[in-house]
Amino acid sequence: MEHMQEIIEQKAEEVEQIIRRWLPEEKGMQHTVLEAMNYSILAGGKRLRPILMYEVYRMLGGNGREIQPLMAAVEMIHTYSLVHDDLPAMDNDEYRRGRKTTHTVYGEAMGILAGDGLLNLAWETAMKAFFLEGPKDKPEEEAARMRRIATAVEVLARKAGVYGMIGGQTADIEAEQAQQTDMEQLLFIHEHKTAALIQASMMIGAILAGADEEQISRMEKCAYDIGIAFQIQDDILDVTGSMEELGKPIGSDERNHKQTYVTIRGLEDSTAEVKRLSGEAIEILSSMDGDSSFLQVLAEYLIHRRK
Ligand code: IPE
Ligand code: IPE
Ligand code: MG
Ligand code: MG
Ligand code: MG
Repeated sequence: MEHMQEIIEQKAEEVEQIIRRWLPEEKGMQHTVLEAMNYSILAGGKRLRPILMYEVYRMLGGNGREIQPLMAAVEMIHTYSLVHDDLPAMDNDEYRRGRKTTHTVYGEAMGILAGDGLLNLAWETAMKAFFLEGPKDKPEEEAARMRRIATAVEVLARKAGVYGMIGGQTADIEAEQAQQTDMEQLLFIHEHKTAALIQASMMIGAILAGADEEQISRMEKCAYDIGIAFQIQDDILDVTGSMEELGKPIGSDERNHKQTYVTIRGLEDSTAEVKRLSGEAIEILSSMDGDSSFLQVLAEYLIHRRK
């Protein structure tokens, strides 16, 4: 497993090289917002979503370049969600990815604008997939490739939007005011605020690799399990982790009166649920065609993650 840490860091480094290609130059009258965007996305981070996207793509036989703009796009959207999540009006956090949060350094207005900037840059970048060279002499293949990219962009927009991540963040914020949050509400929050972008990542890997509906929907279910497990583990680490390991403050949930898996079920049950869900995800992966060994080890690794 220690070995796994190194492998993930190596893969994150490769993702970083890909993302960098589409990051803005910090010049012009709007250079402050461009600096703030680069500051937040280049602060590191596990790059889990693009890694998952790429690994699913490879597992199902994908070998083209059109995956790359989508990998960058999902990380831009994820980063914008973190920049906005940390704002005073939301979780009001001062550290992220081991450095001061974007709004703490650049001010609240620039934090909002840097998030907006990353979100739009994500779409601009995703659309670049359409312009990559395809098989010119094979119009039918080229048309199928275009359809796959259009499907991928639609999935990303849906899973990031009000029926996905933004919807989850809405319910998460409203739940702070509620006297009590029940399991159904909590699962809605976890599914939307966190699992949705992980689903988008794994589904897009499958879609661009040319997977059929059945395979895509199995990836959606697998990513649901990984996503819920990931957020429960995030809630656990908010209690048991450390700022040094996580790069973000612990105790944020308690300070914001958030009901989490841990407050509702306790630490022991939460840990068991992370294991159960990850086991389910691994089972789905192992039942699919293609070599899923790396993804299985990754899902197992996430159970024990400390950051
Ligand atoms: C943090 O996501 C927000 C959650 C959905 C729990 P990550 O834990 O993937 O954050 P980074 O990208 O590694 O910083
Ligand atoms: C955030 O959940 C999920 C997002 C969509 C950003 P949290 O608020 O628990 O994430 P952290 O703990 O700040 O990373
Ligand atoms: Mg939050
Ligand atoms: Mg937060
Ligand atoms: Mg958290």
